[in-house]
Amino acid sequence: MIERAESQFWAYEIDDKNTGKDLVLLDNVQFIYELSLAELELKAFGAEFEVTNGLREFKILNKSVELKEIIRSKGSYYKTFDGEFTDYYYIIQKNETRSVNQFLTHWIYPYKGKFHPQMIRALLNIIGLKEGDNVFEPFSGSGTTALEAQLLGINFIGIDVSPLCVIQGRVKTESIYVLDEILEIKDEVISKLVPNLFSPETNYYKMIKDLTSDERVRNFYKMARLLAVSDNSRRKRDFRTSFIKNLNLMVASVKDFIEIKERLNLNLGNVKTEIGDSRNVKLSDNSIDGIITSPPYSIALDYIKNDVHSFKDLGCDVSKMKNDFIGVRGIGKSRVELYNEDIKKSYSEMHRVLKPNKYAVIVIGNATYQGKEIKTVEFTIKYMENIGFKLVKNINKIIFGLYNVMKKENILIFRKEK
Ligand SMILES: C[S@@+](CC[C@H](N)C(=O)[O-])C[C@H]1O[C@@H](n2cnc3c(N)ncnc32)[C@H](O)[C@@H]1O
Repeated sequence: MIERAESQFWAYEIDDKNTGKDLVLLDNVQFIYELSLAELELKAFGAEFEVTNGLREFKILNKSVELKEIIRSKGSYYKTFDGEFTDYYYIIQKNETRSVNQFLTHWIYPYKGKFHPQMIRALLNIIGLKEGDNVFEPFSGSGTTALEAQLLGINFIGIDVSPLCVIQGRVKTESIYVLDEILEIKDEVISKLVPNLFSPETNYYKMIKDLTSDERVRNFYKMARLLAVSDNSRRKRDFRTSFIKNLNLMVASVKDFIEIKERLNLNLGNVKTEIGDSRNVKLSDNSIDGIITSPPYSIALDYIKNDVHSFKDLGCDVSKMKNDFIGVRGIGKSRVELYNEDIKKSYSEMHRVLKPNKYAVIVIGNATYQGKEIKTVEFTIKYMENIGFKLVKNINKIIFGLYNVMKKENILIFRKEK
């Protein structure tokens, strides 16, 4: 992948390394909010700078060896510094998909409402988290923050009420530690995938359990099946063909991750993703260095309905799950009231576990329900400020993307004052 990118323009004398330029943005940086985050990130690194060349380059005014090393190894939006490729430039080349932001294992499972990974890396830096610090995600979803924190050497603690999310977060971050064990049983799993003459009746999950006692390997194969289940139910793809294709892509992505870890000598953070309820968090008071999260946007999306095929395949009792998921209880007006009640509890828990003077980032948008706009952003700011947070930045983010239906979100950065 890297070779392809570097030799793409072999026939022309193109200076892909931007020799003689200070800091150059990555080609995929397109939006105003990304430039705002890039500037905040540089400030957080201690850089003084001017934006030049039609907003695509920065001139660094206080260049030093240390500053260059920080920006080159930790930065999120930059392609080169002084003609040297950044770590993130190499990382995002390791992509088995056609979607620019679904590199490494990020792509695994088409979860609706995924964060943009590059934005999360920038936010981790902006709120000043360093190697060895911990970040908490009370709505960990598909595991975007988990993987981005891991890459920066930041320890991650995440909870989500959905077992499907917990598997996603774990597979994306843990499979690199068990690739050999995964490969050891691959052929056998494929041969027993659908009933045949030699294994007439197959209970897939039991078969995986019998083949390995390692939870991480089991999760990997659960995920491979759920990808095929999702492909089959959403796009009517043949189950077996889809399973084999996705399994091979998952293996290739895990190999990419291992390769890049070695090539860049990354010191990965520890990741802990558990089933949990954001309204009642099992963490001590004042124990967390930073929070980055995106809660359900009021009642905009039914997270149960959306993945019902996968929940059923995993053996979940879908009718019982409703009580635990924020934003899906009740109907009409009472649904919004229940959401407000639940989300207030979650915000209070975020306040309780965060250390004083540390930051909580909430990415959220207003939702539309039955033709009416629900002002979730204003509600969030008001409540967070009531319980002792101060809003220090509010960045408008115009969104687009494969699974996104909303037009605008806000990145709200709060500091715990008292
Ligand atoms: C907007 S999504 C998070 C997406 C995530 N940022 C990502 O990159 O994939 C909101 C998440 O909240 C979870 N959720 C809903 N109710 C919850 C609760 N009571 N406790 C924890 N998580 C909950 C849903 O399962 C869903 O994954």
